[in-house]
Amino acid sequence: MLIDKNSPLPIYHQIEEYIKDRIIKGDLKPGDVLPSEREYSQLFEVSRMTIRQAINKLVNDGYLYRKKGSGTFVAEKKFEQALQGLTSFTEDMKARGLKPSSQLLHFEIIPASLKVAATLQVAEHTPVYEIKRIRLADGIPMALETCYISANLIKGLTEEVITHSIYDYIEGKLQLKIGDATQIIESSLACQTEVELLNINKGSPILLIERCTYLANGTPFEVVRSSYRADRYKFVSQLKR
Ligand code: GLP
Repeated sequence: MLIDKNSPLPIYHQIEEYIKDRIIKGDLKPGDVLPSEREYSQLFEVSRMTIRQAINKLVNDGYLYRKKGSGTFVAEKKFEQALQGLTSFTEDMKARGLKPSSQLLHFEIIPASLKVAATLQVAEHTPVYEIKRIRLADGIPMALETCYISANLIKGLTEEVITHSIYDYIEGKLQLKIGDATQIIESSLACQTEVELLNINKGSPILLIERCTYLANGTPFEVVRSSYRADRYKFVSQLKR
């Protein structure tokens, strides 16, 4: 018996667990199309409404995703990103055995706005690099990043450098030590630009991450706003008491 109609557990929840179990066991693999609501309602002998409720929950939890006009599919497993440790995108992807790359959208030296200047602790209009990149793992867009970096501090950034790793350049080439960072994470829904650049559906969940990073001597050198795909990322932290 696939579900127990006499159980105190709601039926939609049992169906949700059944589908989740098939995904975890690998019977349903990332990219596989899910059987239709009609097929499931015949299999479980329940209404399509109940099936939809289970599927909606799995979509919200990131196990499944919908493609307009094509159906519901099994999602890729989410990356677990540790909240401790100050790492770069390049390091994070390499640690997972994936090939990091960047698609450069914009690169310019501009006068710092009041807000950016305040965060970087420089005078307004001080030159900063404005950099917009799509960050990819094995060619798949993972995040969209806009960063402002003090040009007087991090000298010599080029297109070549920023299509690879900025942190590698700072520590390897400039021999500056990166110290710590403050980071804020918020949830949001994909806007039109994110939909297009990250190749996701309108209204997909996004994790907005704002980071200000300091050199080991305490000087802030970058302020970064990133939009990470929430269907591909989850954050994990160790809590000590
Ligand atoms: C992460 C951080 C950014 C940082 C970037 C550096 O994505 N969220 O704040 O600028 O790493 O990455 P890389 O060294 O790969 O350019």
